[in-house]
Amino acid sequence: MSTLYEETTVKAGAPPAAGVGATGEEFPLFRRARKPAPLDAILAELQATAELPLAQARTLPAEVYTDEAYFDWELDHVLRPAWLCLAHISQIPQPGDFLNLDVLGEPLIVVHGKDGVLRVLSRVCPHRAMDIMPPGFGYDGHQHGLGDRREGVPGCGHTRLFLCPYHHWSFELDGRLKACPEMQQAEGFCRDDVGLKTFRAETWRGWIFVNLSGDAPPLAEQFTELSADIAGWKPETMKLALHREWDCPFNWKVLVENFMEAYHHLGAHCKTLQPLMPAKNTWTEAERAHSVRVNLPFKNQPPPGEADFEPIPTLDPEHHAQMAVFLGHPSFLLFSGPDRLFWYRIEPLGPDRSRLHTMMLLPETALADPDYAQKLALADQMLVDFHMEDMEVCIAVQRGFFATGYQRGRLSHLEMPIWLIQRYLAARARGTYPTLDRPAAPGQQ
Ligand code: FES
Ligand SMILES: [Fe+2]
Repeated sequence: MSTLYEETTVKAGAPPAAGVGATGEEFPLFRRARKPAPLDAILAELQATAELPLAQARTLPAEVYTDEAYFDWELDHVLRPAWLCLAHISQIPQPGDFLNLDVLGEPLIVVHGKDGVLRVLSRVCPHRAMDIMPPGFGYDGHQHGLGDRREGVPGCGHTRLFLCPYHHWSFELDGRLKACPEMQQAEGFCRDDVGLKTFRAETWRGWIFVNLSGDAPPLAEQFTELSADIAGWKPETMKLALHREWDCPFNWKVLVENFMEAYHHLGAHCKTLQPLMPAKNTWTEAERAHSVRVNLPFKNQPPPGEADFEPIPTLDPEHHAQMAVFLGHPSFLLFSGPDRLFWYRIEPLGPDRSRLHTMMLLPETALADPDYAQKLALADQMLVDFHMEDMEVCIAVQRGFFATGYQRGRLSHLEMPIWLIQRYLAARARGTYPTLDRPAAPGQQ
């Protein structure tokens, strides 16, 4: 096993130093092997590529995965204007529970308020810009009897208020300034005008999303089809059972594309997933504005495995005979089984760096399974095993994007999700979403 992509125990919110892997080793990336094209040319090529019919589809210019200027454009036009998934309610179930994480350079707290509202607050102190719970500072707002760190859940804790370690200003769980010492001589200073910045947040089917730009259409409207897709799992009642973090020396879209296409079962997963869900039987549903759904029928109905829990009784029967992968554009990723949901959260850190969280949600009934611990350990090992297969190819693909030998390839019809992602990026460049200004692409069978 290479140490380059071993999972890490780095605390959430503490991305590793650029260019350094989980083990402190340099990633073997040779950056800037080619002179990048100007941003206008990259965007023009993105539009042209996305206009091709599926039968003529091809990969995008390498700069879409390597270039700083394109990454900056993507931050402003794709990522900050989108709804980005941050947490699941089972991570912060009680008022006072919170989770720290950094997203696109914003240090954030997701907090379950005393009023039951789930909020996303900035951790940047409105006094002198201190991160009020800096990772690795050995001080995360919990001493002085304020609350506890939740053992075993990175970045999670419980508190009754937030305290900035620099000059001890304190904040309510809704971000309002509660107290600030020695400010009585500051003219015109009004405590009520000051607080931690609140970002626009929505809770959908048990997940908490943030929209950093503040102007995205409401999330519930965007995910109408996705909501119907996953209703049977009742995700709002599920519990987070597994969570691993991975340093990823590749662009966030490399992971999303890999996650969404099942064509690579033929190669990367030839011994694991291909026998169970052959690539050629997988198919993608008709184009949607905000989500993608791919169905992965089982070759033969597998007998219950050692790691399987009772199938969820509220699922549509089709989900007992297949797995499915879902993308809520641009980066909300789910992979379903008859008894569970895998949820991946990818944090872009730069054009060629990301941090990935691989997680598994289970229904509450699974927690009562007498063999729960044993099944969970097995499920964890299986997740690591097949994700290692994906890490290997994603790392190697990113190296390819930096090489002068990179050629833009043709896509199989089984890679329709990649083509749909291209169409999403191109639509965002036009200031719209897929299917709103172009006819929707039909589904496959
Ligand atoms: S920077 Fe937070 S109290 Fe001064
Ligand atoms: Fe894979």
